[in-house]
Amino acid sequence: MNYEKPLRAALHLLCLLPFLWIVWQVWLMFSYQPHALTANPFQYINQYTGDWTIRILLASLAVTPLRKLLKKNGLIKWRRPLGLYAFFYGLLHLGNYLVLDHFFDWAVIWQDLVKRPAMTFGMIALFLMIPLAVTSTKKMIRRLGRIWPRLHRLVYLIGILAVVHNIMMVKADLREPLIHAAILCLLLGYRLYDKYRPGLVKRLSFT
Ligand code: HEM
Repeated sequence: MNYEKPLRAALHLLCLLPFLWIVWQVWLMFSYQPHALTANPFQYINQYTGDWTIRILLASLAVTPLRKLLKKNGLIKWRRPLGLYAFFYGLLHLGNYLVLDHFFDWAVIWQDLVKRPAMTFGMIALFLMIPLAVTSTKKMIRRLGRIWPRLHRLVYLIGILAVVHNIMMVKADLREPLIHAAILCLLLGYRLYDKYRPGLVKRLSFT
């Protein structure tokens, strides 16, 4: 039996569920019904979309290590949708900040971006996701050739900037951002180990 189609559908559903849930909560709020958006809905939506951006970004970074460890090459197909969903939630996060939080008050937004390093890191991370999203199609992979994997290594920098932004933006409880940081260290650490493993094995066998 071919599980690919149902698994793909499940992935899309899982990634869309947080979006559908927040749309539903906003609808409840506007219909004066009990909702989960707290007394400060804009802040809630900002935190919620930020959290889902980083979770899906980390999931996309987990695809390659899982593919190698489980020896399941087919998993590679999951990387693109996960990356694009991370970008989608990142855009919602930015949109909420620009529209609901500050209603296009560009002077305040500019001050925020230049005076608060955490905001600068978040903005750079999202900005760097644009070329990756634009070049994620099969056509672009073919057209860019050897430049493509180099360009897409930017995702490591994006992950680092996103985790630093997360740690700096959280007000009280640092547990979740630190879990994100630990997962990122594991995922990047695995890549380093995988890259230098042949040399390491050779050196160890000579000693
Ligand atoms: C890849 C890009 C980004 C990621 C992964 C990301 C992720 C996050 C996360 C995880 C949080 C903490 C949520 C929490 O408290 O639980 C956060 C907070 C925040 N982010 Fe981002 N962010 C990104 C880009 C941006 C951008 C571009 C902006 C705006 C220019 C922004 C503005 C904010 C603000 C204002 C908060 C604080 C929310 C609050 O507590 O009121 N972020 N972000």
